Amino acid sequence: MSAPARVRSGGALAGTTPVPGDKSIAHRALLLSALANGVSTVRGFPGGADVRATLGAIRALGAPADWQGDVVRIDGRGLALGDGVDTAIDCGNSGTTMRLATGLVAAIAGRRTLDGDGSLRRRPMERVAVPLRAMGARIETTGGRAPVVVDGARLRGTDWTMGVASAQVKSALLLAALRADGPTTVTEPLATRDHSERMLRHMGVAVTTDGTRIGVRGGQPLAPLDVTLPGDPSSAAFLAVAALLVPGSEIRIGGVGTNPLRTGLFAILARMGASITVGGERDVAGEPVGEIVARHGTLHGTEIGPDEVPGAIDELPILAVAAAFAEGETRVTGAAELRVKESDRIASLEQLRTLGVDFEPTPDGFVVRGRPDARLAGGTIAAHGDHRIAMAFAVAGLRSPDGVTIDDPACADVSFPGFFPLLARLGARVDGPA
Ligand code: S3P
Repeated sequence: MSAPARVRSGGALAGTTPVPGDKSIAHRALLLSALANGVSTVRGFPGGADVRATLGAIRALGAPADWQGDVVRIDGRGLALGDGVDTAIDCGNSGTTMRLATGLVAAIAGRRTLDGDGSLRRRPMERVAVPLRAMGARIETTGGRAPVVVDGARLRGTDWTMGVASAQVKSALLLAALRADGPTTVTEPLATRDHSERMLRHMGVAVTTDGTRIGVRGGQPLAPLDVTLPGDPSSAAFLAVAALLVPGSEIRIGGVGTNPLRTGLFAILARMGASITVGGERDVAGEPVGEIVARHGTLHGTEIGPDEVPGAIDELPILAVAAAFAEGETRVTGAAELRVKESDRIASLEQLRTLGVDFEPTPDGFVVRGRPDARLAGGTIAAHGDHRIAMAFAVAGLRSPDGVTIDDPACADVSFPGFFPLLARLGARVDGPA
């Protein structure tokens, strides 16, 4: 565990900044490039621990990848990637690596063991194993969790209806489908992030979409990728909320992905009365990219129901912090998935109570009764190794005169390398490791 960091209230935050490249898109760029015919170039690689795990996975499967600065060049092996390779894949803390890699290797001869850290070993893996087995895959989980052992098998396309709204499960099935016999269709209960579909199309693969039903036929070749990743809106979310909460602040974040299936938080915050705009959008390799501007202002509470959850799932911890400073009640329902993230995020957020926030956990969400003029008590928070919990509580510290101490600030590196120093550069009072 790293040395702790403390964030305290101080003056206004101001500045214009990019954020690291999108983690979700980076995983897909690496995996799909490894399956492509030829050399791909991925710029704006965020370099956090999660995407480094995926880089390790494609190398282990036999795709050479050269990473320098924020550029990765991947020598794709085509649809034969990994053929006959027996290997262990260390997914670290990354659920996306484990679930997508399980789909990627399911159809190719060889035995792979996928494992990860203590947090990842607690997360559910049958959600990918069950549909992949229906396609003919040979997968063993360890009591439903990692380690996961996949023995490559010939797969047949399937028509699968997902029980849980999960872009990771959808993407695992699409990756397996690329090497299966015949067509596969996947139907989602609610639309989730569509980065895999967009990138596959960009690489020349025919992907059909009919509402929440997505189809792909196996055996289609992938053209190599030449892409600059958009900034991660999930990372931008922490800076945007920081600006909203500190009087006098204005933060501009440029080059951020604005895919509508990822920007649910910004829409929710606008409904809460926040001064937050998403503008200047352009298309970069099939994904919309724009600028987010957030300014301090008064917020009021709102209700977030199940339909809005997939588009804001990773942002609900920072939304809980924003809600602590909103007039009235904010209620989130239909978000039981929060309990199976890098930590049980509903339980982790209960620590808001130690800072004096009126936070009530529920089985599938939470209720926060906020106060615009609240000054939080000081305290030490356990991040539970969860990057988004560490960053959410750091932002809460911006409204605490005695300061909020995060026990393990380095875990922010999973998705946002350099988060604490950047917060300090924008004007926050941060004591602790740079
Ligand atoms: C992700 C999907 C979501 C999200 C995770 C990244 C992805 O997980 O929470 O951070 O890149 O596909 P689920 O698929 O479990 O909802």
